[in-house]
Order: sequence, then structure tokens, then C-alpha cells
Amino acid sequence: MSLLLRPATPHDLPALLRIEAESFADPNWRAEDFSRYDTMVAEADGQIAGFLVSRQTFSGNGEGLAEREILNVAVAPSFRRNGIATLLLKHELQFDAVHFLEVRESNAAAQALYRKLGFVAIARRPKYYERPEETAIVMQLK
Ligand SMILES: CC(C)(COP(=O)(O)OP(=O)(O)OC[C@H]1O[C@@H](n2cnc3c(N)ncnc32)[C@H](O)[C@@H]1OP(=O)(O)O)[C@@H](O)C(=O)NCCC(=O)NCCS
Repeated sequence: MSLLLRPATPHDLPALLRIEAESFADPNWRAEDFSRYDTMVAEADGQIAGFLVSRQTFSGNGEGLAEREILNVAVAPSFRRNGIATLLLKHELQFDAVHFLEVRESNAAAQALYRKLGFVAIARRPKYYERPEETAIVMQLK
């Protein structure tokens, strides 16, 4: 399989919305959300196989490193367990920044992925998610 990472373009939006719908019980990202932030896509043999959306939350200064937040990551079901999310995350982690993310407490697959890359849980936010209501685990790259 040939894999390519590149910034998303407006042509990718239908594929991004399809992967979002296939990946979450309550898909709530709209086209404009993907356009507003930094969205990278993974293309596998020419097909959009997954995406990662992030944003800078602090630009950094002489006293503190920049901070970034990973807002959304998903890989189309037929492309999972091929290292695509790992590749997207490793690309994001090249930014010289402190990285944060939130994940549903029940999402063991995503938490395993994040731990493998060096994220650790630093806080819990009860009732953070809706539909269904659930605790968020806040993770930071250490
Ligand atoms: C979570 C998700 C992005 C992982 O994508 P992926 O491309 O399959 O992940 P990778 O192949 O890079 O997996 C890397 C490691 O993560 C862990 N992992 C990934 N999926 C897993 C699963 N279903 N169960 C347990 N561990 C899992 C494993 O340790 C895996 O390494 P291994 O395959 O060598 O065992 C994908 O399952 C997905 O899109 N899920 C639905 C959307 C979602 O939950 N996004 C995260 C929101 S916070």
C-alpha cells in the first residue's frame, strides 16, 4: 500500500465527512470544522483513508513552548490497524509543541494508540461528552 500525507483540500470534504460518519456514533463535525483547523489527510493507494485535525492553542514565547491540541483523528474502517493513525500522529508530533487531546473514557482503541505514542492521562472531565454522556480523559504528550 502506498501512503501519502498531505494537507486537506476542499475536494476532500466529502471523504472526510464519510469517514467521520463511519467512525463515530454521534458524528458532529461539519465541513466547515475541517476547513477551520489544520487538517491532514492520509491517502492510501489514492483513496482518502484517514485524517487528523489539530490547532495551535498557544504560539509559545521566550518562557514557554507552543501548545497544540489534537481535535479529531479517524481512519476509515477498512484501513484500520495498518499504522495510518500512527503515521498521522507522528507527523503532527513533529511540531515543537506541548500536545494535548481529549478522548472518551470508553475509547480503549484510541487510548492505546495515544499511549503508544507517549501520551499520558493528566485529567478527567466528567460528563464532558454528550450523546452519550461520558467522561473525557485529557491526555498530554510527555
Ligand atoms: C482509533 C483509530 C484512529 C486508530 O486508527 P488506526 O489507523 O487503526 O491505528 P494504528 O493502526 O496506527 O494503531 C496503532 C496502535 O493503536 C492501538 N490500537 C489501534 N486500534 C486498536 C483497537 N481497535 N484495539 C486496541 N488497540 C488498538 C494498537 O496498539 C495499535 O498497534 P498494533 O496495531 O500494532 O497493535 C481508529 O480505530 C478510528 O478511526 N476509530 C474511530 C474514531 C476514533 O475513535 N477516533 C479517536 C477519537 S479521540
